Amino acid sequence: MHEVKRVGVIGAGQMGGGIAQVAAVAGFDTVVSDTTDAAVERCKATHAKLLARAVEKGRMEQADADAASSRLTYAVGGAEADGLSGADIVIEAVVEDAAVKAKVFSTLAKRFADPVILATNTSSISITEIGAAASKAAAGADARVIGMHFFYPVPVMQLVEVINGLATEEEVTKRVIALAEAMGKTALPANDRAGFVSNRVLMPMINEAFYALMEGVAEPEAIDGIMKLGCNFPMGPLRLADFIGLDTCAHIMDVLAEGLNSERYRPCPLLRQLVTAGRLGDKTGRGIFDHQK
Ligand code: CAA
Repeated sequence: MHEVKRVGVIGAGQMGGGIAQVAAVAGFDTVVSDTTDAAVERCKATHAKLLARAVEKGRMEQADADAASSRLTYAVGGAEADGLSGADIVIEAVVEDAAVKAKVFSTLAKRFADPVILATNTSSISITEIGAAASKAAAGADARVIGMHFFYPVPVMQLVEVINGLATEEEVTKRVIALAEAMGKTALPANDRAGFVSNRVLMPMINEAFYALMEGVAEPEAIDGIMKLGCNFPMGPLRLADFIGLDTCAHIMDVLAEGLNSERYRPCPLLRQLVTAGRLGDKTGRGIFDHQK
């Protein structure tokens, strides 16, 4: 089995940055690439802050944080960045847009030959569809395309959902499971159906919480409190929607509606309305709750 030593991550946002951090802490030589200097600089600053906090909290020795930092490099140029050279796996964590992902995988398939694994952190786009874009650019590349779905915040969340596309080779799946475990995560398999398992189950629940609010079943604090105290969730569904981003939640519901061919998965009108108003949750300071206070 070809061993993964160097990890490339495309996309230096919250997900890509988190994946790169966890890989570097786990001992992998890691490069994270984005299209702009500003995105890369923000990611670098977040890594410095989170590693310093881990030392402060006694979760990590200073020497280990320094070693992790020294294993992290940053590159500008997205999928074309020179810095990605030598990667044994490239994990894509760019915007959740099928056309953008197809372009990234087309570049990656031409640039990286077997046995380099081409993984995507997509939360809902079909792995088979992404694989097809790769194999269009380089015949057979779809055998190396796989879903490696991390959860936010990546350093804290235990799960990696591993999703095979129609053409994904068994050896690739085994290597990805081994990598996720080496990163300290638990890998669990799901099939390539809209939303996989995580969002197939989570998002309709969040959507239903918006319906409950819209229909006056309870106030937001009560909806969240009931689910936190009654079901032992760390965050209520409305708080979690703000945390994930209301635009992301609405987008995933639309993907479920298309992929499962059922209107019952469409975003709740209240969710759509808040997205239209620009109330996207934590990232804009306001969603269901006000985060500016
Ligand atoms: N990055 C790194 N570490 C973070 C962090 C971040 N963004 N946010 C919190 N943490 C760490 C904190 O440092 C803290 O660790 P220490 O005590 O050692 O410092 C630990 O997490 C707990 O944080 P807090 O004490 O601040 O707060 P908390 O106990 O309420 O936990 C939480 C915060 C871990 C986010 C918790 O509320 C939780 O688990 N929420 C649910 C998160 C969830 O469901 N995520 C999945 C979203 S869905 C998804 O990602 C997939 C998709 O496709 C949409």
